[in-house]
Amino acid sequence: MELTPFIDALPIPEYLRPLERHKQFTYYEVTMKEFFHQMHSELPGPTKVWGYEGKFPGPVIEAERGERVRVKWINDLPEEHFLPIDRTIHGSGDSMLDVRTVVHLHGAEVESDSDGYPDAWFTKGYKHVGPRFEREVYEYPNNQRAATLWYHDHAIGITRLNVYAGLAGLYIIRDHQERVHNLPAGNYEIPLIIMDKSFNDDGSLFYPRTVNNPPPNFPDPSITPGVAGDCILVNGKVWPYLEVEPRKYRFRILNASNERFYRMKLDSGQSFIQIGSDGGLLERPVKLKEITIAPAERVDVIIDFSQQVVGSRIILNNTANTPFDFGAPPDPETTGKIMQFRVVELKSPDTSNIPRFLSNIVRFQESDAERIRDITLDVRPDQYNRLKFFLNNRGFMENLTEKPRLGDIEIWRIINQGIAVHPIHIHLIQFQILDRIPFDVDAFNAKGQLRFTGEPQLPPPGESGWKDTVQATPGFVTRLIMRFAPFTGRYVYHCHILEHEDYDMMRPFQVIAPACKYCQK
Ligand code: C2O
Ligand code: CU
Ligand code: CU
Repeated sequence: MELTPFIDALPIPEYLRPLERHKQFTYYEVTMKEFFHQMHSELPGPTKVWGYEGKFPGPVIEAERGERVRVKWINDLPEEHFLPIDRTIHGSGDSMLDVRTVVHLHGAEVESDSDGYPDAWFTKGYKHVGPRFEREVYEYPNNQRAATLWYHDHAIGITRLNVYAGLAGLYIIRDHQERVHNLPAGNYEIPLIIMDKSFNDDGSLFYPRTVNNPPPNFPDPSITPGVAGDCILVNGKVWPYLEVEPRKYRFRILNASNERFYRMKLDSGQSFIQIGSDGGLLERPVKLKEITIAPAERVDVIIDFSQQVVGSRIILNNTANTPFDFGAPPDPETTGKIMQFRVVELKSPDTSNIPRFLSNIVRFQESDAERIRDITLDVRPDQYNRLKFFLNNRGFMENLTEKPRLGDIEIWRIINQGIAVHPIHIHLIQFQILDRIPFDVDAFNAKGQLRFTGEPQLPPPGESGWKDTVQATPGFVTRLIMRFAPFTGRYVYHCHILEHEDYDMMRPFQVIAPACKYCQK
């Protein structure tokens, strides 16, 4: 499908209104619905999607730090899925219902029963629920620094389909510490939720049923190792444009794509000024010509258009290969473009400001770590010779092996001996990236021997703040440090390429009660 870029205006997602506001908590209800949404004016008509509150992407939920938010997530979707369900993978077998949903607030510190465990799914009217379903109303304490989080579906075996169908939205925590900075706000603070989709000729969403040229006796439908669309959408429109004044804007950018990474660059040659990462503000602003954003990552950037002449047009381009980074480069005419900025007259003077110092980030010390865990990223063929992905060679259903103690600091060494960058995400906590150390992949694959071959590379400044998703680079051991708190209970960590997560690159972990301080060791 050929669509002309930059003919639709960028939609600005609306904030969700609470049903009730009490002293103790704010209450929302969010209903997942099927509806039709015009994704580009040249498509033959609106496209069938699923969305929270009938919005694609979902409405923005806004919370103040410390505000207790309760959300009743309601599934009002049809009984049948409109995307192809693979019945051979764990969690979506023949006996499983089609349309199961469960909502995860990505990046949030929440109790395990509100975290959206993949087996805590529910169907319409909570008629059927998964084995780990515990409650209808989820509770978010928002006891964490201001940050751009996002909520999305997490149902076992079909997350890739539910998110592709549209079940994703932004969640913003604000706090006083950030407000004192006078960053661009109001109409000048804009979320950019980037996704990629493909369309059938009739304008319906295309998600591949199976691989190209499947061998005989291949499952149909079958999951593939990754799905990237050939159209890029921002806030639900394909290649939109945004009119901007010659002044500073703050953009909260989320990559909500299944597998596609974006290496973003402005064709005006301007830099982005990155001010935040997944878990909130950085220590200080960073000027960057290019930013690479993996699925589920967020970057908070300021773009200063004040030096641009009225009438100029600036394209936000993408140069990232798919699969990242060994695959094909994007087509400069299509997937190489994200959106366009059109500079119009200034309406009022820009009084916002970018401080030199943004926030204080207390660094975890390596010497404070209680233990080090190694996590390998593995790929093996399944019985149909399809690629199946693992963490430490284990799938989701194998025994629980990660049991950090509440309050403990741990170092996780993500060992990537493959060829793809995997965006590894850990629930419950925000971590810090210690470094990436090159290692001898052949020695590791042959003998399981971890031999470093070079100096540790410190994370670039844009990755030096709080993170919940990290690009684990092939040929490197990516070292993370984190504290498991403030809740005990069961959570997951996984690759955020959704086709990897579903098959089968996701593992549970359980935060267990702390050791007794006064007992003998
Ligand atoms: Cu954004 Cu476990 O997910
Ligand atoms: Cu998460
Ligand atoms: Cu992966």
